[in-house]
Amino acid sequence: LGSSLHLCSCQTYVLSDKDGLGRVFDGIGGLSGGGATSRLLVNYAEPYRSQILDFLFKPNFGASLHILKVEIGGDAQTTDGTEPSHMHYENDENYFRGYEWWLMKEAKKRNPNITLIGLPWAFPGWVGHGKNWPYDFPDITAAYVVNWILGAKQYHDLDIQYVGVCTRLLWILLRYTLDKSGLERVRIIASDNLWEPITLSVLLDPELSSAVDVIGAHYPGTVTVKDAVKTQKKLWSSEDYSTFNDEVGGGCWARILNQNYVNGLMTATISWNLVASYYEELPFGRNGLMTAEEPWSGHYMVDSPIWITAHTTQFTQPGWSYLQTVGHLEQGGSYVALTDGRGNLTVVIETMTHDHSVCIRPPLLPFNVTSQNATFQLKGSFELQVWRSQFNFKTQEPSFFEKLTPLKLVNGSFTLHLAEDEVYTLTTVTTGQKGSYPDPPPSAPFPKVYKDDFNVRNPPFSEAPDFADQTGVFEYYINMTDPGPHVFTLRQVLTQRPVTWATDADQAVSVIGDHQWRNLTVTCDVFMESVNTGGVFIAARVDKGGESVRSANGVFFWVFADGTYKVTNDLGQYKTVLAEGQSGTRAYVWHTLSLTVEGQYASGLLNGYPLWKNAVVLTAKNGWAAIGTHSFELAQFDNFAVVAE
Ligand code: GAL
Ligand code: CA
Repeated sequence: LGSSLHLCSCQTYVLSDKDGLGRVFDGIGGLSGGGATSRLLVNYAEPYRSQILDFLFKPNFGASLHILKVEIGGDAQTTDGTEPSHMHYENDENYFRGYEWWLMKEAKKRNPNITLIGLPWAFPGWVGHGKNWPYDFPDITAAYVVNWILGAKQYHDLDIQYVGVCTRLLWILLRYTLDKSGLERVRIIASDNLWEPITLSVLLDPELSSAVDVIGAHYPGTVTVKDAVKTQKKLWSSEDYSTFNDEVGGGCWARILNQNYVNGLMTATISWNLVASYYEELPFGRNGLMTAEEPWSGHYMVDSPIWITAHTTQFTQPGWSYLQTVGHLEQGGSYVALTDGRGNLTVVIETMTHDHSVCIRPPLLPFNVTSQNATFQLKGSFELQVWRSQFNFKTQEPSFFEKLTPLKLVNGSFTLHLAEDEVYTLTTVTTGQKGSYPDPPPSAPFPKVYKDDFNVRNPPFSEAPDFADQTGVFEYYINMTDPGPHVFTLRQVLTQRPVTWATDADQAVSVIGDHQWRNLTVTCDVFMESVNTGGVFIAARVDKGGESVRSANGVFFWVFADGTYKVTNDLGQYKTVLAEGQSGTRAYVWHTLSLTVEGQYASGLLNGYPLWKNAVVLTAKNGWAAIGTHSFELAQFDNFAVVAE
């Protein structure tokens, strides 16, 4: 322009396909798992459960996601709980465990074109053949993963399109095994972790390169490495976000959705996690696109990341292409433009400021964003739909995904006044909608009186409602041989420590209830299945789960098959023993345990009679109720009940 004076910021940005298009867009997605992040969602009553699913997956309604990535359950703790494997044991196959099958079907029901991805975080113990490492027997690991993909098709008619695993041998073997199993269509993502060393390996190793379709990085901070671009592979942010879903979380998401392409040429971004449906006190509480952590009340929250997602997802589809003319705005912020190649155009602009768009990781270097006028110049005369979100951090009255008056283009240009912390979509697509339902019920704590007899003949899920397994896997069980009242029970089914990633405890433990609970009585019938060596517990005030489960404290009441009992302050039983002695407990007999904690005192009943009392509880303040086993051993539970104050 030849001018050295910049009195106003009214920069012009040309949007054009004159020099060809940019990369093909692969979609925006959410990740269920890694792990147990959708645990509580399945226990929502209708209509709320369907409403939540609509906000996530229904086209032209809410987040309208293009991609659903799920954990291939590996029986192990993978952040917020364990997810069951389709093969607990070497000779075992079952494709009806957990909730990921259900979730994929619900997603597909709403969006038949949704891209499905599977990724294992951990593996059942037998896959490692005695080692905490799943890659020494890569043929076993590859077959294990391929079985899951085949099971998805056979039992649920789900076509898994992408799968991720680690290590070179496995990628090549997996490619071979997939092809041999008629799954040529399934693509491989590698390494689903960092850009290097996979990028260099792909460049140097043609065999590897032909096995790998996508280079996926986690939490890339919007940038890639030069060599990754050289590979000419698709580049994805295959796991990203993991930020508390308040407005700053929404700001993080707005910034990375645009800038993962602008800075890093990444054509897909997947949020960990899809929906925060796990007890909030577990690690990374509310790190989901929306929040649904209260199945007992029906309350859920459509948080800002849902509407930020909509700015992109509702107006473009996988298969569209980015224009090459994308970039940063003069006064900070960024813009991308995408086209379907048939005359449709979608422009997404974000002006998120630094402090309002910090993600959990990696650290965000300083930058400035100030309000500005931006003129976009494009060819042709047409009408653009305009959608806007304003975070309004000052007034704390944000307005998300608001439809403004369409813009009539004259001479192919339009000018926007962009304030700080805004997101705009300008698009020829006219199908956008801000979906809504009547407000869900108000938030409420977990019921203080709670019971489960596990008497369900055909349970819709393998887990009992609201139990969140933190080590081990607890499943509905039908006890064929029981003559009496314990035909339908809950059983801990792992007999071996899984190949773990997040250090499971040495004991199996499933938590339930309200983390604020302090004074309460927990009662449960228990049945050990290991003669002499068996042990089970019930507990109150259990303070930790997730990746910290090994260091969980609380009040744990154990009985053992050798005829003894113990009361401890910690799950590991390494620290304070509050009481211990003879109990006469045995395997293959049902016993009823009852634990009452009141202020600083705890007491326990066995089969209705006092076994110990007035144990002094000094450290455990509050936490969930829990059940569990002494080791990875079979054991059953029945008639679980809590009465809390
Ligand atoms: C990732 C991991 C997820 C979850 C997340 C939390 O690295 O894959 O399972 O733990 O971190 O930020
Ligand atoms: Ca029962």
